[in-house]
Order: sequence, then structure tokens, then C-alpha cells
Amino acid sequence: MNRDFEFKQLLRAFRAGIISEKAFEGEMAELEHGAGHNGANGANGASGGFRAFGKNYGSEREAVISFLDRAYAAESNGAATFENWAKLCTTECIRSGIKMIAEREAYHARIFKNRLRELGAKPSAPVNEDGRKFKEAMSDPNLKDTEKLLVHHKLVADPVVFFQAISEFAERITEDVETKEVIKLFVQDEISSGTWLNASCAALNAPAASVAQADAM
Ligand SMILES: [Fe+2]
Repeated sequence: MNRDFEFKQLLRAFRAGIISEKAFEGEMAELEHGAGHNGANGANGASGGFRAFGKNYGSEREAVISFLDRAYAAESNGAATFENWAKLCTTECIRSGIKMIAEREAYHARIFKNRLRELGAKPSAPVNEDGRKFKEAMSDPNLKDTEKLLVHHKLVADPVVFFQAISEFAERITEDVETKEVIKLFVQDEISSGTWLNASCAALNAPAASVAQADAM
């Protein structure tokens, strides 16, 4: 793995909320000082270590538990976020879609929590800053649905790219195939939700944008 690749992995992991800002900064500092963690501790190295999201873990199991913990926090927060939006949503054509996304987020959280328990761990990760801000915006009664769609689009402009680090992580899991497959299915759900939200954003914001354009002429 070269440094450029490592940097991209770290950035994707940070943006997807997999690692905290503190962990991101720490790993970046190590990268800058040339401690690139290649060799024995590289991808599934002979030492038993596992490299994921630009970080070194003692084992694949440790990386999987860390992912499930953070993903549980993010998905529980996502469920509350979309539930709050659904209650405030006044745009008929997207209201039940928002409710469906809230249900998806809630069942992702349940599955991740169950899997954590099966692996002998308990959730302990906090919600990251982006997730907290996103929930705040989606729960704001003064923000229109079209504006909320734009906030989401700004955060997740391309869902495939946004979830790429998680897809790559799933691909590299070799031992815990149960979690591997559940993560792959989870990513498909998230890409579906994100793509639908962005299509709704484009459709519902387009008339306003073209009126603004016409007014300017
Ligand atoms: Fe989610």
C-alpha cells in the first residue's frame, strides 16, 4: 500500500464516520512521519494483524467489532434522524420514503447490535460529529424538505463513493463471513437510500432552480 492509497482510505473512513476525528488526525500524523504500517502488519499480515480504514487492528475480529460498534452508533442515530424528519415532512411524494429509510436505519442498528453481542461485545462508540449535525438539521422544523435534501446531498453527493471504504473492508474479511455478507447487504441498502434521496433532491429542487434562473434573465 502506498501513502496515497493509505491517505485515501483514511479520508474515506473518516468521512463515512468509521473513525473519529482524533483517530484520523493521529493516523495522518503517523503517515506523515513515514510510519506507513506496511510489511508484517499490512493487509491480513502474517502477524495476525488486520489493516482497515487506515488503521491497524490486532486481528480481523477486533476490526469487525470496532466497525460494528461504530456502525451501530451511526445507524441508531440515522434511525432517530429519519424518524424526526418523517414527522416533520410535508412533501407527500417523499414522506413514506423517508419513513422507509428510518426503518432501514433501525433494522441495520438492530442487526449490528445483535452481531456485536454474538461476538461477545457491547456497543460503546459515540455518534460522530457529522451524524450529530445531520440529525440536528433533519430535526429542524424551520428547514424545508427541499433544504434537508440539499443538506443530505452535500454530505453524500455520491453514495457509491461514500460507502466505498466500507465495501473494501467487507471484501477483505476472510474469517467472519457472516459479518462480511451482512456488511455487503447493508452497503446495498445505504446506496439505495442515498441514491433515492439524491434523485428526490434533484427532482424537487429543479423547478425552484429553473424559476430562479428565469428570474435572473
Ligand atoms: Fe445508515
